[in-house]
This record gives sequence, C-alpha cells and structure tokens, in this order.
Amino acid sequence: MIARNWRRHLVLACSIKVNINVPSQAETLSKTKTGKHRTCTDLLDCAYCHHHQQEEAMSTVTAASPAAGSFCIPRSRRRINMPRFTMTVRSSNAVSVGVAPILTKFKHDCATPLPLLRHVADAMATDMRAGLAVDGGSDLKMILSYVDTLPTGNERGLFYALDLGGTNFRVLRVQLGGKEERVIATEFDQVSIPQELMFGTSEELFDFIASGLAKFAEKEGGKFHLPPGRKREIGFTFSFPVRQTSIDSGILIKWTKGFAISGTAGRDVVACLNEAMDRQGLDMRVSALVNDTVGTLAGARYWDDDVMVAVILGTGTNACYVERMDAIPKLQGHVSPSGRTIVNTEWGAFSNGLPLTVFDRDMDAASINPGEQIFEKTISGMYLGEIVRRVLLKMAAEGSLFGESVPEKLSTPFVLRTPDLSAMQQDTSDDLNVVGSILYNIAGVESNLSARKIVLEVCDTIVMRGGRLAGAGIVGILQKMEEDSTGLIFGKRTVVAMDGGLYEHYPQYKRYLKDAVKEILGLEKSKNVVIEHTKDGSGIGASLLAASNSKYEHDF
Ligand code: BGC
Repeated sequence: MIARNWRRHLVLACSIKVNINVPSQAETLSKTKTGKHRTCTDLLDCAYCHHHQQEEAMSTVTAASPAAGSFCIPRSRRRINMPRFTMTVRSSNAVSVGVAPILTKFKHDCATPLPLLRHVADAMATDMRAGLAVDGGSDLKMILSYVDTLPTGNERGLFYALDLGGTNFRVLRVQLGGKEERVIATEFDQVSIPQELMFGTSEELFDFIASGLAKFAEKEGGKFHLPPGRKREIGFTFSFPVRQTSIDSGILIKWTKGFAISGTAGRDVVACLNEAMDRQGLDMRVSALVNDTVGTLAGARYWDDDVMVAVILGTGTNACYVERMDAIPKLQGHVSPSGRTIVNTEWGAFSNGLPLTVFDRDMDAASINPGEQIFEKTISGMYLGEIVRRVLLKMAAEGSLFGESVPEKLSTPFVLRTPDLSAMQQDTSDDLNVVGSILYNIAGVESNLSARKIVLEVCDTIVMRGGRLAGAGIVGILQKMEEDSTGLIFGKRTVVAMDGGLYEHYPQYKRYLKDAVKEILGLEKSKNVVIEHTKDGSGIGASLLAASNSKYEHDF
C-alpha cells in the first residue's frame, strides 16, 4: 500500500512535498523477519532486503525541522533505486569542533599500516599451527571436517542440501549428471528464521527446519528423480562451530552470530535434525555435515581445481583450506586416502594483534558472548554498523555532531546496519542526500553536509579496517600453506573462493580486502592469487559432499 503510494508520487512532479505515514521500525523489521527472499543467503543479505523494502516504503519523507531551507533531489541525480524524498536541511554547515578529536583518535586507533597487516598475517599462521598441534592450542579451533576428497565431477543422482547460516535457512535439491551433464537442475527455497526461534529451544528450531524441508521435498518432480529403493540424502550446512566426530555427525561447541538457543550446545546437531525429521515423519538421511566455508570450497572446487581456500564474509566470518594430513599433529588415527583434508579454521575467534578501539571493547562487553569471536566482531557484517553507531553516538553526545540534542534512535543498539553503511558509501550526490535520508530514516537524525561527510569518514574507517584485516587473514592462511609446501601457493595459480553478503554487496570492503592482499604479498606473488566470488556455492557444495559420501556411492 505504501509502496503503491510511493509509485504514484513518483509520477507526480518532483518538487511536490508530500507527507506519508512512515512505517515504524517494528513494522519494517517484522517484514524482514517473516518475509521470504530468494536471493538472500544470510542475515546480511536479508538485511539488504530489509533495506530495499525500507527504501520503497519510506519513499517520501518530510522532515519537520526548524532549519531554513528544504530541497528536492533532481531526477537526474537520483540513483535508480533511490526513493523520492523531500527533506529539510539544517542551514548551517558547521559541525562542532568537538567532533574532530574523536574522529582523529578513532582513525588512529583503527589504522592498519602494512607492518600491522604483516603482523596479523604472521599471527594467523602461528595460531593455525598451534591449533593444529593440539585441541585448545590457540584461539583457532582448526576443526577437522572429515572431508578428505573433494568433488570430482563424477557425482550423479538427486541430492538435497539444508543450509542453516544466519537468520535464514535454505533448502535446495540438485540433480547431478556426472562429468558430461554436471548440474542438470537445481531448485531452492529460502525462509527467514523467526527472531523468537533464535532465542528459543533446540527442538523449536529443528522442528521449524524439518517442517520447511518436508514442505520443500513434497514439491519434488520434473527433472528430479530418485531411483527406487533409495532414501533422499542431504548435505547439511551448519554454519556454527561444530566439533566434527565423523563426516555425518558433530557436536555444537557454541552458538555465534547472536543465536542463543538452549539445549543444543554439547549435542550432535545431526541427531537433533534426525529427531525433528522423525517428528515430521520425514525419511531422509544426512550424508554430510559441513560448515558453510567447507561447502563453499567444495562447490567452487567442482568447477575449478585451483581452489585451495574458502572464506565467508557475511553476518559472521570464517575460512577453511586444504591441509596436508601430515601437517596436523593433533590427528589421531584418522587416515585420508588422498593425504589431505579440509580444515575449518573458525577464524572468527582469532584475536591476536588487532587494532581495537574503545568502541569495539564496549560492543564486545555488551554482547551475549563477551571476549569471544573478536575477529568476527571486528570484520563481519553483523557488527560493522553497530561500531559506527557507537562512534556516531559519542560524536553526537560529546561533539554535537547532529546539533544540540542527541537523536534518540541513535541509542538503540544495532539500529544502524552494515547494508546502511554500504548504501551511504555508494552516495555520489553533491549533497550526500542518500546519506541524509538514511540517517533520518534509520536513526532519526537530521544532518547537514559536514555531518554527513563525517559519517562517511567513520564508515570508511571501519570498513577499511575490516577489509584490510580480512585480507591479512587470507594472506596468513596462504603463507602457512606455502611455508609447509614450497611452491604450492605462490608458484602457481591459487584461488580463494569468497562468499557472503558483506563481500558481495560492499564494493569498498571488497576493494580494501583485495588491495591489502596485494600490498602484503607484493605484485609478483599476488599475481597468482585469484580472489573470486562463488555465489551460493555452499548449497551445491553440500549436496556434492552428500553425493561423494552417499551410502549408495558405489552404485554410480
Ligand atoms: C561461525 C562459523 C561460520 C561463520 C560464517 C561464524 O560465526 O562460527 O562456523 O562459518 O560464522 O557463517
């Protein structure tokens, strides 16, 4: 209804100033939480949907303000997706001098000069070794995935994947046709997980997942065929730290990314899913339990033999890579015919040598997992917006960034999200009107041009730090692999498969990451390192791993 109103207004003359009802924060949030969006992969993606919905809904806003002028954005300067809005702007462009010292200190504390990046890369490599030596040897858990062989292309048959990542879960089916036909057909469905389930019980969550899977499986037909007498097999992507006990079982160590579900930590998550499937009367079998990084690596490797590392940068973050069995001292009795296995680093828990600020420390202290997932809290999508909000709040309170009073909404934790930062950073208009409207719509802030510029500087500082540190982490992994087998990485083409909404939708972040990799490695070495986006690889990857670990595999 509101969106329709907006379209009508758009047809009207550009300078007409209209008041419409702006949906409350709760209304727009609930739309996101219950809505479906087929292209989203995790919370960040979903947050992007939220953003687009908000753009549509909040199309025409008149800001009541004591300020002098009002303006309307000329059609030519508007981005295609930009809503028409008319808002008042403070007449003065001055920003209180109190802001400058806060900004200077903040930038100083976030700085990531080359020596710091090198130190982070070295520390990552050292922590990886310590985590491989003994369980609990470092912040990095270095979890064995039990994925010892990667897809070959020979996989055939019908397989399912179930992907529980951030606030969404996805179900997918794929019909594989071997080397000649490869992926014959895929279908998927995606459902947002209601917020209350993120804080509920294990049974509630797994019942919700199993019922989504059951509904999806019912609609199977067309190009998808299951040979008679076989069970449907699933690759289960579970994107939280799990101590794998075999390829198809693993114990949840802890929840991350804001999940706080009771009754799952310490339990086998496949058993939890099996019990829920039983309750649904669903007769399917989990053949592979994988982390999303492992699914991404497998999915990317299906098309490209040079893929050695996979990184997720979305709501949360993590990386996995192909490791030699003889480089894993903590391995006991596990034999891999290929001599290699995929190790899930769980690098989100890394914490060594990071340039942290008082805002990071405060955010961590207020989180549900203080002292944990520090790298994740510094570089991933769930947290970048919140760090910026905390900086802006201090600037507003102590430096009068937005005038005399502190905008009330700015005090709400997580009100500013990483997709908002990205949208603001894509604003190329002279007046920074996108920045202005986002600050107004999201945080209830009225801003002048100088304040908007400062907001952008804060965003850029935090995004630059995040992207560059992520780049340093990648170099740390490559370095470790090269040190163990000279020529394995830098002597030839090596692909790092990337996925996640933050990497996909934040161009500045991606650029900072890639530039940092080049800066640390130097031109010569970095020439062979290809950092490549693998869109939604983890779903296909998990189904491929279900295929290669199928109990019927010898029938191929
Ligand atoms: C989890 C990882 C996951 C990553 C990306 C982190 O919070 O601990 O297991 O791979 O998020 O989804």
